[in-house]
Amino acid sequence: MKKITSCLWLILLYNGNAYTQTSLAASIANGKKVYQKNCLTCHQANGGGVPKMNPPLIHASFVMGNKKKLIQWVLLGSTEKVPIDGKYYSNNMPAQATLKDKEIADVLTYIRNNFKNKASAITPEEVKSTRVVKK
Ligand code: HEC
Repeated sequence: MKKITSCLWLILLYNGNAYTQTSLAASIANGKKVYQKNCLTCHQANGGGVPKMNPPLIHASFVMGNKKKLIQWVLLGSTEKVPIDGKYYSNNMPAQATLKDKEIADVLTYIRNNFKNKASAITPEEVKSTRVVKK
């Protein structure tokens, strides 16, 4: 009986893991579409950006860092000329608040798992709560 129970646990664990993997893959796939539509013109298909105009997103500490800051950045955009890894960029980043919570979550999950970045996924709930705090 003990054996059967632990076997069942293994199956449950395995299925849980498979589910998480599938939803992560789905989120990344949708995030890529959101990226192509809303971010690619400035940050480019390979995330390399445009020198002096738009910063690269490749192996970027900000992209992989604090989730709330990253979500807020995308929601609000930026007209401040802040140095990014010691460099300045002349363009403004337009606010993306018209995108849905899920679209922002997916696009951020996509860039956090692409362009040589590796970081945890961002959920629509996290975007939602950040939006609420800001208003
Ligand atoms: C019109 C051009 C433009 C578009 C469209 C745009 N960005 Fe940006 N992005 C910028 C610029 C310019 C900066 C730097 C702003 C500054 O220096 O204040 C920036 C900065 C960033 C940063 C911080 C970069 C770093 O390495 O610290 C992230 C993350 C980012 N953008 C993500 C996105 C995402 C995701 C989208 C699409 C949903 C997007 N951007 C759409 C121009 C753009």
